[in-house]
Amino acid sequence: MQQDILQKFLADKKIVAVVCNQWGDTGKGKLVDLLSSWANIIIRGTGGANAGHTILVNDQEHIFHLIPSGILHDSQGKINILGRGVAFDPKIVIDELDLLAESNISVKNLKISHQAPLMLPYHLLIDRMSDMKAKVGTTGRGIGPLYADFISRQSLFVNDIFDRVNFKSKLENFLANKKDILAQLDKDLAKQILLHPHLGAGIFFDEQNILSVDKIVEKYSEYALRLKDFVINLELFLQQAKKEQKNILLEGAQGALLSIDYGTTKFQTASDCTLAGLAKGCGLREREVDYVFGIAKAFYMTRVGNGPFPSELGAKQSEDYCASGHSKEEEKEKYAVKLPDLLKADDFSQGIAFRLMGREYGATTGRPRRTGWLDLVALKYAMQFNGQNLSLTKIDVLTGLEKIKLCVKYKYTGPEIFYAGSVLKTNQEIAYFIPDSDILYHCQPIYQEFSGWTEDLTKIDDYQTLPQAVKTLVEFIENYTGGQIDLISVGPDREQTIIKI
Ligand code: GDP
Ligand code: IMO
Ligand code: MG
Repeated sequence: MQQDILQKFLADKKIVAVVCNQWGDTGKGKLVDLLSSWANIIIRGTGGANAGHTILVNDQEHIFHLIPSGILHDSQGKINILGRGVAFDPKIVIDELDLLAESNISVKNLKISHQAPLMLPYHLLIDRMSDMKAKVGTTGRGIGPLYADFISRQSLFVNDIFDRVNFKSKLENFLANKKDILAQLDKDLAKQILLHPHLGAGIFFDEQNILSVDKIVEKYSEYALRLKDFVINLELFLQQAKKEQKNILLEGAQGALLSIDYGTTKFQTASDCTLAGLAKGCGLREREVDYVFGIAKAFYMTRVGNGPFPSELGAKQSEDYCASGHSKEEEKEKYAVKLPDLLKADDFSQGIAFRLMGREYGATTGRPRRTGWLDLVALKYAMQFNGQNLSLTKIDVLTGLEKIKLCVKYKYTGPEIFYAGSVLKTNQEIAYFIPDSDILYHCQPIYQEFSGWTEDLTKIDDYQTLPQAVKTLVEFIENYTGGQIDLISVGPDREQTIIKI
């Protein structure tokens, strides 16, 4: 890892962001941890406990859902902040604080925006209830219902938990407005939701208490005591930080293709996870950001939950299989069946092999991540919102494969349809991304094939030493997208990073 090159590159920058150009889980946590050596302040601005950011340091894995990924640097005086755009779930933050305390990791510089929207138990309940019908495959963390309340001016904020009387009266009001939705909740369904195997965590009281104003007020008053010292006025804090020329790092969550503004319709999260949404959620303007690490996993990609994924290995079979969750059997299969056999078998089996090779199991829900080849059509689209600077992660994962495929176009196989001012014809080739899920489900990938490599990449620390086959792929991606690849990650550890800048 060439720390000096990285520090030199960042020397003239003040505000830097890390965002994802795919469907999440691209290694944002790793990059934020790495860049925290440069930053004075690290801020999360979007999403909530739906995120799962993994950091590997000295063989120890840390997974954070809400606390920013710079927290391991707290003892060096780095300030980590939960920004105003974060769906703030106090129970999950407190659980994370407890875990950090167990590992003797300092949190004395952690801060929380007083204005972050507050997760309440009914958000989790409504999320889980509505996803039984909608089948988006949400993480069940209450994200959609909370942001919906925020937009319809029905949400509480972090600041509200410090005034018990006010909190109670606002809560009574808002909960009354939910009567219609909650009336659909029969006891059996509630039980089923409460016991859902993937969705155990979060502020989930038992059946009796989940809708009780008094119980909620009591519990949140306990949380208030625990969190009081962390709360700040982020806007005032940032005014001062900018005056003092502090280095500020913005940590994105999810990915552009999941964004509520730009993602694949219906199968989206509920915040804008592109650069614009991130900057806003951190209390900043997009134009203030000096550089963006726009990440893409390579040379494959993943998706958790349902929704179109044109280059998915195993297509619908894989989507359905992953929705039902089979990770344990697969792990066993890893030992029973040799990876080379899986790789030589059908697409669906290859997808399992990619999952095993990349250890692609959800950091939040444990669900198997759907896998497929890197889709450059989708990447180019995402870069329109996140910028032209690319960071490639996980390029070590597909070592040993004879051929690598990159999706460069789609063939539309659905019925003739009017879309964006013209008619899409059956079997027409398309070279642009279509975020309309109904249409994208009918787009088949058209691939360009490249040679693979056999060399171990995980210890390489400069670009020139990479095998020619890898460099050919990197250059092809740059030419295709018009972007510039500045950073390449060859393993989960901080050190396993090549700076190409
Ligand atoms: P995030 O949500 O974007 O922070 O990503 P996740 O933490 O959900 O998933 C990324 C996974 O890949 C984590 O387990 C990381 O430790 C791991 N990882 C990150 N970069 C690399 C890399 O370059 N190579 C390999 N093999 N693993 C990586
Ligand atoms: P990180 O930050 C991958 C997906 C869910 C689901 C959809 C909507 O770790 O990259 P939600 O609970 O947000 O309403 O679910 O979004 N999703 C993620 N997928 N990584 C994430 O975060 C995700 N956060 C949400 O699987 O398909
Ligand atoms: Mg993740």
